[in-house]
Amino acid sequence: MISCKSNKKYSFLLALLFSFLTVFSSFAQGEQASVSQDGVTAGAAGPDVQAGGTLFKNNCASCHAINEKVVGPALRDIHKKHKLPWLISWIRNSSKMVQSGDKQAVQIFNEYDKQQMPSFAFSDEEITSIVKYIEAESAAPVATTAPTGGNANDQTAQAATDGPGGESIGDAGKYLNFILIALIVLLIVMVITLLIIANLMKDYLRGKKDLEGNDIELVEQRWDFSKVYKSRAVQVIAGLIFFCVLLDIAIEETYGVGLSQGYQPRQPIAFSHKLHAGEHQINCNYCHTSVYKSASANIPSANICMNCHSQIKKDSPEIQKIYSAIEKNKPIEWVRVHNLPDFSYFNHSQHTKVGGIECQTCHGPIESMNVVYQYSPLTMGWCINCHRETPLNTEGNKYYDNLVKLHDEANKGAAFTVASNGGAECSKCHY
Ligand code: HEC
Ligand code: HEC
Ligand code: HEC
Ligand code: HEC
Ligand code: HEC
Ligand code: HEC
Repeated sequence: MISCKSNKKYSFLLALLFSFLTVFSSFAQGEQASVSQDGVTAGAAGPDVQAGGTLFKNNCASCHAINEKVVGPALRDIHKKHKLPWLISWIRNSSKMVQSGDKQAVQIFNEYDKQQMPSFAFSDEEITSIVKYIEAESAAPVATTAPTGGNANDQTAQAATDGPGGESIGDAGKYLNFILIALIVLLIVMVITLLIIANLMKDYLRGKKDLEGNDIELVEQRWDFSKVYKSRAVQVIAGLIFFCVLLDIAIEETYGVGLSQGYQPRQPIAFSHKLHAGEHQINCNYCHTSVYKSASANIPSANICMNCHSQIKKDSPEIQKIYSAIEKNKPIEWVRVHNLPDFSYFNHSQHTKVGGIECQTCHGPIESMNVVYQYSPLTMGWCINCHRETPLNTEGNKYYDNLVKLHDEANKGAAFTVASNGGAECSKCHY
C-alpha cells in the first residue's frame, strides 16, 4: 500500500541514483581512454596518425627516430623543415631528387655521407599520414617517444624498457584521484540507496495498523535540521575534519618553509652530486654560478647540463628529460630543498666569498649525496650561534682593519666575532 506521494519520492531518488551512475561510468570510460592513449601518441590521435604510425614503424623506424639520429636524421618537426610536396617526392624517390639537383636534397644527402635512403611506393595519403604521425610525435614529450621498433641500437631499446621514470608519479596521482572520486561516488550512491530503503520501511510501517507509540513517532518523523547539527555524531565528525585540516596546514607550513632538517624531496631528474661533484670533481660554482657573487645561489639551467650532456650519456632516459625540457623551453622543475622564511635575509656571497666559509659547513657532505637533503637546522639559533663563535675573516680585508683596531682596544683579548660586529642584531637578518 504505497501512496501516490511516496511514489514520486521514489522516482526522484531512483532518478538521482541513475544519473549518478551514468555520470560516473562515462567518467570512468573517459579516464580509461586517456590512460590507454598515453605513451602511444600525444594528444588527439586521429585514424590518420595511427595508420601513419604503423607505416612509420614498419618502414622507417629502422633508420629514423623522432628525437635522435639513428642511421638517418632525427625527424622531429620535419613538417616544419620541408613542405609536404617535397616530403612526398623525397620519400617516393630521394635519389631522383638528389640527381635533379634540389638544394635541400643535395645538402642532406651530402651531410649523411651520400647514403641512399630507399624509395617507397606509397600513395600521397599514406605519406601524408606518416608526416602527420611525425608531427604528432614531435609535439609529445621526448622521454615517452623513445623509439622501440626495428633494429634501433641497444641503447634506445634500453631507454624504452627503462621507461620514463617521472611518468609513473603522474600516473599514480591520476589513479589516486580516480580512486578518491570513485569512493565519493560510492558514498553518495550508498546514501541514496539507504534513503530509499528507509523510506520503503517507513511506508511498510505506515501500512500496519497496530503501531505502538515509539513506532508512530518514528513514522511521523520529519527532517529537522537543528537536530542534525545538534547531533553528537555530526559534531564529532566536523571536529575531526577541522582537526585534520589544521594538521595538514601545520605540516604544509613546516615543510613548505623548509625548516625541516633532513628534508630530502625526490627530484624530477635523478641528478647526483655524488657523481658530479664527488667522482667527477666538478666545482660547485661551475653549476651554482652565482654562489660567490650574489645573495642567492642559483640552480643551474638545463643549458649548463648540455655543456656535457650534449655528448655524454645521450640515450639515458634521465638525460632525455633534460632534452625534453630544452625542447619545450621549460625549466626543469627541481624541488627546492633549503628555504628560509621570507622575513629573514641570507646572503651567500657574504658567507662564501667574504666569510670564506666552505659550502660543506652549512650544507654537509654534498659531494657524497646522491640526493640532496637539508643538513643543517637553518633556525635562527643556528645562524646566531655561528655568528657568536666565528671570528671574522678580516685578513686581507681593508674594510675591517679599523674596526678590528677599535674592537681590540675595547675588549682586550676577546675574539672579534661576527656577532661582535653586529652579526646578532635583528635588523641584519630581518627586514
Ligand atoms: C635504410 C635507412 C632508411 C630508411 C628505411 C628510411 N630512411 Fe629516411 N633517410 C635515410 C638517410 C640516410 C637520410 C639522409 C639523407 C641521405 O643520405 O639520403 C634520410 C633522410 C630522410 C629525410 C630528410 C630529413 C631531413 O632532415 O631533411 C626524411 C624526411 C626521411 N628520411 C623520411 C623517411 C621516411 C618517412 C621513411 C619511411 C617511409 C624513411 N625515411 C626511411 C635513411 C633511411
Ligand atoms: C653539475 C652541476 C652541479 C654541480 C657541480 C653542483 N651542483 Fe648543487 N645542484 C645542482 C642541481 C641541478 C641542483 C638541483 C637538484 C637537486 O637538488 O639535486 C643542485 C642543488 C644543490 C643544493 C640544494 C638546493 C636547494 O634546493 O636548496 C645545494 C645545497 C647544492 N646543490 C650544493 C652544491 C655544492 C656544495 C656543490 C659542490 C660540492 C654542488 N652543489 C655542485 C647542480 C650542481
Ligand atoms: C662538466 C660535465 C657535466 C655537466 C655540466 C653535467 N654533467 Fe651530468 N654527468 C657527467 C658525467 C661525466 C656523467 C657520468 C657519465 C657516466 O657514468 O658514464 C654524468 C651523469 C649524469 C647522469 C646519470 C646518467 C645515467 O643514466 O647514468 C645524470 C642524470 C646527469 N648526469 C644529469 C645532469 C644534469 C641534470 C646536469 C645539469 C644540472 C648535468 N648532469 C650536468 C658530466 C656532466
Ligand atoms: C653559512 C651557511 C651557508 C654556506 C657557507 C653556504 N650555504 Fe648555500 N644555503 C644556505 C642557506 C641558509 C640557504 C637557504 C637560503 C634561502 O632560503 O634563502 C642556502 C641555499 C642554497 C642553495 C639553494 C638556492 C638558494 O640560494 O636558496 C644552493 C644551490 C646553495 N645554497 C649552494 C651553496 C653552495 C654551492 C655553497 C658553497 C659555495 C653554499 N651554498 C654555501 C647556507 C649556506
Ligand atoms: C658557519 C657559520 C655561519 C652560519 C651558520 C651563518 N653565518 Fe652568517 N656570517 C658568518 C660569518 C663568518 C659572517 C661574516 C662574514 C664577513 O663579513 O666577514 C657572517 C655574516 C652574516 C651577515 C652579515 C653581518 C654583518 O655584520 O654585516 C648576515 C646578515 C648573516 N651572516 C646572516 C646569516 C643568516 C641569516 C644565517 C642563517 C640562515 C647565517 N648567517 C648563518 C657565519 C655564519
Ligand atoms: C643571524 C641572523 C638572525 C638574527 C641576527 C636574528 N634573526 Fe630572527 N630569524 C633568523 C632566521 C634565519 C629565522 C627563520 C628560522 C627560524 O624560524 O628559526 C628567524 C626567525 C625569527 C622569528 C620567527 C619565529 C621563529 O622562531 O620561527 C622571529 C620572531 C625573529 N626571528 C625575531 C628576531 C629578533 C627579535 C632578532 C633580534 C634580537 C632576530 N630575530 C635576530 C635569523 C636571524
